[in-house]
Amino acid sequence: MTDRPLQPEEGGDPPCWRHLLEEPPVPMTDATLSRLVRELADAVVVCDPAGTIAFWNTAATRIFGWAEDEAVGQSLDIIVPERLRARHWDGYRRVMATGETKYGDHLLEVPALHRDGHTISIAFTVTLLHDGIDSAVRAIAAIIRDDTERWRQLRELQQTVTELENERTART
Ligand code: HEM
Repeated sequence: MTDRPLQPEEGGDPPCWRHLLEEPPVPMTDATLSRLVRELADAVVVCDPAGTIAFWNTAATRIFGWAEDEAVGQSLDIIVPERLRARHWDGYRRVMATGETKYGDHLLEVPALHRDGHTISIAFTVTLLHDGIDSAVRAIAAIIRDDTERWRQLRELQQTVTELENERTART
């Protein structure tokens, strides 16, 4: 017997991690990253400084109901409920002018409009895109998650707590 690991030609099993050394890692080309952005489960919506939609991935279609070719070229108003538009556009224009946002790493949680008119809950952060020539913002990307189910569960839980509190008050 020998302490040294047996070589494959001697009947030894290659270490299970050998393939990690032999196969190159998935190459992170622009094409791979572009597919990732198109296919990931969260919506990615990119707009120009005026608020016109320039990019809309497949999850955005699933969440908001608009197909890519219907959404691109439209104003963000197609998904912003009317009562929130003034606040949204005030903040939007300020961020385009200053280049600073508080929602780069904090979630903005708001109701949004689905194509068929019903309201959903969304949560998102935004990323400002510069072209490197100057500090001007060229575009803004929102990474959006459908939060409707979580809000439904929260409301259900709050309802249960209220009912339990009412029962306890009635007993005392
Ligand atoms: C879909 C429905 C949306 C609704 C209801 C909505 C609503 C709002 C509201 C209420 C604010 C004010 C937040 C505050 O004062 O703290 C806001 C700000 C803003 N929204 Fe929207 N928004 C929506 C989508 C988007 C999208 C898709 C983008 C970007 C592509 C975007 C970009 C911004 C920006 C940049 C601000 C300013 C953030 C800041 O003050 O740092 N919004 N929006």
